[in-house]
Amino acid sequence: MRGPMALVIGGSASPLLSLRLSRALRCGLVRTEVRRFPDGEIYVRVRRDVAGERVIVVQSNGRSQNENLIELLLTLELMKDMGAREVVAVVPYMAYSRQDRRFTPGEAVSAKTVCRLIECAGADHFITVDMHHRETLQHFSIKSNDLTAAHAIGGYLKRLRLKRPLVLGADRGAAERAKNVALEMGADHDYIEKKRISPESVRVSVGGFDVRGRDIVIVDDIISTGGTVAESARILRKNGARTVHAACTHPVLVGNAMEKMRSAGVRRVIATDTIESDVSVVSVAPVVAGTLG
Ligand code: R5P
Repeated sequence: MRGPMALVIGGSASPLLSLRLSRALRCGLVRTEVRRFPDGEIYVRVRRDVAGERVIVVQSNGRSQNENLIELLLTLELMKDMGAREVVAVVPYMAYSRQDRRFTPGEAVSAKTVCRLIECAGADHFITVDMHHRETLQHFSIKSNDLTAAHAIGGYLKRLRLKRPLVLGADRGAAERAKNVALEMGADHDYIEKKRISPESVRVSVGGFDVRGRDIVIVDDIISTGGTVAESARILRKNGARTVHAACTHPVLVGNAMEKMRSAGVRRVIATDTIESDVSVVSVAPVVAGTLG
């Protein structure tokens, strides 16, 4: 993928990640030109001939999800129409990935629809990072990769020199992620028992491990409302944890999520640039470049 035949197409939702990826791959970067029609519809233009090239379209689907998704789809089809040899869709955070099954009869399986749209628009290869459930990739018939940011996050946390660190998955589903983060840090790991009551509220229990005097890191794929982290942090602090840090791949951070976590005693929140935010201190560019290089 290195050399003049690869080109990164930077979508409007991923300006930093697309730049970092083009540098890591030592290839060119062209930014999509995105404008609005008077009625709000999106207009996309790429001012570069891509005929015969392998293009890597980088466009995350954080908020505003619908707009970022439409921009992605328009760009993918545009690349195909312009004669690109291969179209790689790097969608580090895929919209609707959490609605990946029919939890209640009659619900749309949104993640499946989004996968099908991306493939139908012209992607030959799909790359994402820490997909909520890796099984979602089964909806693609094109090549697909779900990469993990856990090692990069662990590397960052290691440099913080935490005291007797314990890495806790925010729920059973995050246990493997916590283990990989902890491996990089040479730390212990476990997971928190969580029961979701509603999209905004959870019940957690942190029995089974001693947190007294330790620096705790709660690890999750997504921090959305911050409810899971805040609720866990409150209990961990009450049980004697010295500090509580939170680390996630995708900082969705809805509304007052940061404030909620801080007032629950969370010292620091760290995340990656799959969604570019103030807490995105770790880049997934090296891991994505590693798959493409
Ligand atoms: C859910 O299963 C996810 O892995 C996260 O735990 C969840 O999205 C976090 O949401 P919130 O920040 O709203 O508690």
